[in-house]
Amino acid sequence: MHGSWLNGWRLTALAGLGVAAMAAAAMASAPDPVDGARLAIRLTARTSLLLFLATFTASALARLAPSASTRWLRANRRYLGVGFAISHFVHLGAIATLARLDYAVFLQLTNVVSYVAGGLAYLLIVLMTITSFDRTAALIGPRAWAWLHTGGLWYIWFSFALNFGKRVPRDTAYLVPVALLLAALVVRLLAARKRGASARDAAGAARSPYVGPGPAAGV
Ligand code: HEM
Repeated sequence: MHGSWLNGWRLTALAGLGVAAMAAAAMASAPDPVDGARLAIRLTARTSLLLFLATFTASALARLAPSASTRWLRANRRYLGVGFAISHFVHLGAIATLARLDYAVFLQLTNVVSYVAGGLAYLLIVLMTITSFDRTAALIGPRAWAWLHTGGLWYIWFSFALNFGKRVPRDTAYLVPVALLLAALVVRLLAARKRGASARDAAGAARSPYVGPGPAAGV
């Protein structure tokens, strides 16, 4: 899995091509083109979720459970994130195809909230993708980058939670993506707690006059 060839932009390209091929196959294989577009929308939402979760938890998993796999995941976070963006643009492409094929069905499945909330998600995905390169990241500076990428990831997390969560009453199988999203949330929170504890330890050690190799005299 973490062989040296499956890294970096090659990983992004493989994810993007895989998702695009899957969506094309879904559209081509369905007897009814409208069903084909709807299948492609659903499948790409799921590939996007997997790529998103890998990106969202990469650093936290590397902190909580350091290993070759989690180090690979963290090193490839940016490339998986851009893979997520591609997958989600294929989602948008399939949505546009549905709107073109059957506008009435498209209107039935969407509403103003989905346009505004979904539109904002896409705006964030575009901004995050543009700033996923060393030069563009340097252009906006580390503070703005951290705000955009942390805020953006959490906004996308909520979008997935709402979009999958609202389907649970219709089909309990949607509890699976909801559970994955909650597990990812817990992983991020545990890692943040561990980071906080390490930072406090480091600050305490820096303040303490008794730092040195042996036990401090008089303690
Ligand atoms: C303007 C933006 C968007 C529009 C118009 C849109 C439209 C749609 C439509 C019509 C479906 C239903 C397909 C069907 O039942 O046949 C769908 C499914 C879905 N969308 Fe989107 N979407 C948008 C953005 C997003 C965003 C930003 C996310 C998450 C970050 C998302 C996640 C999902 C999920 C989770 C599903 C359910 C997939 C499933 O049933 O497994 N969508 N979308």
